[in-house]
Amino acid sequence: MNYDVKDIALAEQGALRMEWADNEMPVLRLIRQRFEQEKPLRGVRISACLHVTTETGNLMRTLKAGGAEIALCASNPLSTQDDLASALVKYEGISVFAIKGEDKDTYYKHIHQTLDLKPHITMDDGCDLVSVLHTERREGLETVIGGTEETTTGVIRLRAMAKDGVLAYPVIAINDAYTKHLFDNRYGTGQSTVDAIMRATNLLLAGRKFVAIGYGWCGRGVASRARGMGAHVIVCEVDPLKALEALMDGYEVMPLSKATQIGDIFVTVTGNYHVLREEHFQQMKSGAIVCNTGHFNVEIDIPAIESLSAGKRTIRAFVDEYTLKDGRKIFLLGEGRLINLAAAEGHPAAVMDMSFANQALSVEYIVQNQGKLPRDVFAVPAEIDAQVARLKLQALGVEIDELTPEQAKYLDSWEMGT
Ligand code: ADE
Repeated sequence: MNYDVKDIALAEQGALRMEWADNEMPVLRLIRQRFEQEKPLRGVRISACLHVTTETGNLMRTLKAGGAEIALCASNPLSTQDDLASALVKYEGISVFAIKGEDKDTYYKHIHQTLDLKPHITMDDGCDLVSVLHTERREGLETVIGGTEETTTGVIRLRAMAKDGVLAYPVIAINDAYTKHLFDNRYGTGQSTVDAIMRATNLLLAGRKFVAIGYGWCGRGVASRARGMGAHVIVCEVDPLKALEALMDGYEVMPLSKATQIGDIFVTVTGNYHVLREEHFQQMKSGAIVCNTGHFNVEIDIPAIESLSAGKRTIRAFVDEYTLKDGRKIFLLGEGRLINLAAAEGHPAAVMDMSFANQALSVEYIVQNQGKLPRDVFAVPAEIDAQVARLKLQALGVEIDELTPEQAKYLDSWEMGT
């Protein structure tokens, strides 16, 4: 078996942490138990490019229980948990190609090694694997019957591919499931981003001016959790609807050009390019903390900070201090990579349980519907989404009401008024 991990001796610690995460993933566990009996993925090869975390480890175990053969690489050079990567190799027999801190060349080499499996299914988080497959590795498209995509950024790239008519196979947008984005993007990103800022800096958030740039599902979560820690939260948005929503959710809303003059902590969460750039760094107070929790490290124009700077030193793990030529200091966290996975452990397992239940069931759906699906990006089937919500409630021991027959009839009719 081929693999490339940091140190196989870390495997035992990784296995323990994976077991700990599994305690919080009851829905995925139920699916795994069924997969063990039914083997719906027998003979299916899956190339996966995901954040290599303990939660991903439990997804890999589930797919393997279903009979799949898997190769896994990282979807970000800084998000790999090296102990977990080793555990998957040593105890689960899964080919993993991922090392925390790998350089760009190694990152892409690992994607190529993962594609060497000649997959039937691709499982991506950010669309880098799919992009390499459609450009440098086109011969690999022959065997592929479908794919899944985990995140907002990846879904946007895939829709652009479908629009240009170049997407070669059907892809299910896991991100679009309600049981994904309402919980993972909002509560997962919210908690893990605040957690990462605290782990990296040990700063008190109470009373600080915290600028959330972007108010999508992830931005909503970040703003709400920062407020929960007592920060004074300012939201910057380009979309008038989202800006209005932020205002009515109780946040101060203003353009970035104003927020940069008063903010203490800045978090980009837009999915866009060079959101914080030279004109903003020029205005920031000395001591400003800047980080990103969007998928790619393009939201902060780091070369612009560098060209404004007279010096740089790493003052703590994941904290780079830039001393600007005018003497001000700006602290950049996690090299501008998604901070929640770089400086903390990503989303808690309890939300990844639902995201990855959608992944496992969507892979099963692709296999069951081979040849019948459109060559397009489409939503997780509504039955799967509803099933994940039902199973999660059941696992949490929460019961809910049912419509009476009279109510069901009322909702189906149009004749009855006041
Ligand atoms: N994306 C965000 N958090 C994650 C986690 N814990 N595992 C895998 N992917 C993630």
